[in-house]
Amino acid sequence: MSKSDKDGKPKNPEAIRKDEATSPETARLTIGENTYDLPIRKATMGPDVIDIQNLYRRSGYFTFDPGYTSTASCESQITFIDGEKGILLYRGYPIEQLAEYGDYLETCYLLLYGDLPTQAERQRFDNEITRHTMVHEQMRTFFQGFRRDAHPMAIMVAVVGALSAFYHDSTDINDPQQREVATRRMIAKIPTLAAMAYKYSLGQPFVYPRNDLDYASNFLHMCFSVPAEEYKVNPVLARAMDRIFILHADHEQNASTSTVRLAGSSGANPFACIAAGIASLWGPAHGGANEAALNMLEEIGTPENIPKYIARAKDKNDPFRLMGFGHRVYKNYDPRARIMQRTAQEVLAEVGDPNDPLLEVARQLEQVALNDEYFIERKLYPNIDFYSGITLRALGFPTSMFTVLFALARTVGWIAHWREMIADPKRKIGRPRQLYTGPVMRDYVPMSRRGTGLGEGIHNQD
Ligand code: ACO
Repeated sequence: MSKSDKDGKPKNPEAIRKDEATSPETARLTIGENTYDLPIRKATMGPDVIDIQNLYRRSGYFTFDPGYTSTASCESQITFIDGEKGILLYRGYPIEQLAEYGDYLETCYLLLYGDLPTQAERQRFDNEITRHTMVHEQMRTFFQGFRRDAHPMAIMVAVVGALSAFYHDSTDINDPQQREVATRRMIAKIPTLAAMAYKYSLGQPFVYPRNDLDYASNFLHMCFSVPAEEYKVNPVLARAMDRIFILHADHEQNASTSTVRLAGSSGANPFACIAAGIASLWGPAHGGANEAALNMLEEIGTPENIPKYIARAKDKNDPFRLMGFGHRVYKNYDPRARIMQRTAQEVLAEVGDPNDPLLEVARQLEQVALNDEYFIERKLYPNIDFYSGITLRALGFPTSMFTVLFALARTVGWIAHWREMIADPKRKIGRPRQLYTGPVMRDYVPMSRRGTGLGEGIHNQD
């Protein structure tokens, strides 16, 4: 029924590709005496899918796939990943080329509208983003309600959700113009909110955006300038920041993007949906991994300690994992990790120590892991987070801001997916089913017949 070997493991992707010329139109599923022909839908790249939309109606069976390891949750034209080969494309363009020759706002345009902008489109888009960078002045008072030691991601979940309370004129999801305004507002304002969250944690005054600066420079300016002295944005650091934004801009149906789609499928307003995405991104298995990776490198401290930590990562009785290693989709080197490693070197050469001991620990740890049977067998390679923590720290950000920067950059990806979903006339509310293994139906037991809980009755502890 599938492109698998007998043991259920996928064939290698080369074999899958060679089969494509003769790939069948339908898959046949046999359950007991019944046979169901299921249509196979063709992908332009990557695996085709078996369309099971009508399976339950026809057979009475659900499929079971916790964690969605074999399930395409939607059709999309935005981002493509070949995890076996380590390929990442935004709208068909390789991430390496976009990071080398493009910039973040151009990447935003590409993700949102499907093509690279012409010069005129680019200028119009830049102007529109620039004209939306300020936030409602009352947002400043909104911030005062948080403790100074609040995690900036906690603040981001709240303030991005609160945008829907400030910008009522862009919450009607059925109006394409309002969707457009909400899109631009979020791309423009989330850096301002992120910088405010940072300034608030420091107890420093908020810095208003400067529309004469490019996107990344403006963000660095809002984060690092103070009214008491002039701040000049270092162009090397601005370029690095911009590239980090490009690398994080989208990654197809990851946990936070799927969260945004699921929230949006009910018709929730776009600000609320993006707040849901931020909440999902916060977890250490997702956006929180860069913070965890840097903490781990700091804990390892020196190359002599590497073997101890490698042994811990391999020990099934130890919950420790090598943070920044492994990926649900990449079973090869994450292409973003290579660019991030180079960016780390550039930033450290500019402002830090090119021989930063943590960079050395990271390099050596990577080499040891890449040559270790445990990691080779499981195809565990460095992911983007392995080097991003070192880079962001060198740029001057505290670890608590790392996931905020990820959220800022990923906002465009979330919005692109949300727009794609809303514009689909076949849109349905997301409503997974389950394999129920709880109690079968039983009758209510009145309290008088449940016992005291002290050695008798149905809740007896003994
Ligand atoms: N260190 C040690 N062992 C690992 C690691 C790791 N980082 N990652 C996976 N493994 C092992 C697992 O223990 C498992 O071993 P087993 O088959 O002997 O039981 C095997 O590799 C497969 O791991 P799964 O957890 O099943 O893989 P999954 O695809 O579910 O997980 C994940 C992917 C969550 C990213 C995982 O690799 C991990 O926890 N990595 C560390 C956290 C991290 O870096 N996250 C960032 C992801 S990228 C991003 O969000 C931008």
